[in-house]
Amino acid sequence: MVNCKQFISNNGAEAKLVQQDCISGMREHLIEGSVDVVVTSPPYNLGISYNGYDDTSSREDYLNWMNNWATEVRRVLSDRGSLFLNVGSKPTDPLVPFQLLEVMLRHFKLQNVIHWVKSIAIMKSEVGNYPGITQDVVVGHYKPINSKRFLNDCHEYIFHLTNHGDVSLDRLSVGVPYQDKTNVERWSSGGSGLHCRGNTWFIPYETIQSRDKERPHPATFPVALPSRCITLHGPKNVKLVMDPFLGIGSSAIACADMGINFIGFEITEDYWTESCERVERAMEL
Ligand SMILES: C[S@@+](CC[C@H](N)C(=O)[O-])C[C@H]1O[C@@H](n2cnc3c(N)ncnc32)[C@H](O)[C@@H]1O
Repeated sequence: MVNCKQFISNNGAEAKLVQQDCISGMREHLIEGSVDVVVTSPPYNLGISYNGYDDTSSREDYLNWMNNWATEVRRVLSDRGSLFLNVGSKPTDPLVPFQLLEVMLRHFKLQNVIHWVKSIAIMKSEVGNYPGITQDVVVGHYKPINSKRFLNDCHEYIFHLTNHGDVSLDRLSVGVPYQDKTNVERWSSGGSGLHCRGNTWFIPYETIQSRDKERPHPATFPVALPSRCITLHGPKNVKLVMDPFLGIGSSAIACADMGINFIGFEITEDYWTESCERVERAMEL
C-alpha cells in the first residue's frame, strides 16, 4: 500500500510526501522534465542501520541500483534543472562517493563539486591579523573515531550535476560579504557587497544536543543544506523540487520555508511518518 500525504502552507507551497520506492514513485507521479531541482542524499552503502532498508548490498548491486534511480531522475529533471547529490563515506571505505559519481556521469555532467564542511578548525596563528578571528576557533559537529590510521571525518560531498554542465546559477544569492570593503569596488560585485561563497560550505547540524538525544534517523542533512542548494540554483526558476530519498523530510522543510512546491519519496513508514509530522510543523510556522 502506498501512503501519500499532501500539505499546503500559508505561503501557498504544496508538499507531497509519498511512502513508496522512489523508482516506482517517480514513474507514477512525475512526467518527463517536470522537476527543476533535485536535492538528495541516497543511502551510502556503508552499513548504516536504517529501519526498513538494508545498507549492506554488494557494491556491484548498489551501483546498479544507483544507475536505475539515476535514469529516472534524468527523465524527470528539466533541461535547465540541477541535481544536488550529497554523498559521504567512511574512513575504511572512502571510495563510495567517487564510484557513485562515475555512475551519475552516465546520465549527467558534473558542473560543480561542493564540500559540505561539518567541522573546521581555524588557528589564530595561521591566519594572522584577520578581522574577527581573535583566537583559535573549532566549530561544528564530528564523530570522533579512535584510530591511529584514520582522521576524523569532517566533510561530505555535494555533487552538482546538470544535463549539459552549463546551468546559470545565482551565485550571489548565497554569497558572502567582502571582509575588506575596498575589494567591493576592485572586484565589482554589482554593488551588493557580496562575493561568491565558493565550493566549501560550512553547514553545522542545527541542534546537535537534541539530535544526539532523539535520533529519529541515522543519516540526515541539515535543512540549511537543501535551502542553500535551491537558493544557488535560483528559486525564481523553480516550480518543483524533488527528493527521492526523503528520510525525515529535511528537503521538504526547506521548500516549505521557501514557499516552493515539493515532492518526496521514502520507503520506510517510520521515517515517512516523521517527515509528515515535521513538514506539518514547519508549515504551521
Ligand atoms: C541518507 S537518508 C536521507 C535522509 C534525508 N536527507 C534527511 O535529511 O532526512 C536515505 C533514505 O533513503 C531511504 N530509502 C532507501 N531506499 C529507498 C527507496 N528505494 N526509495 C525511497 N527511499 C529509500 C532510506 O530509508 C533513508 O531514509
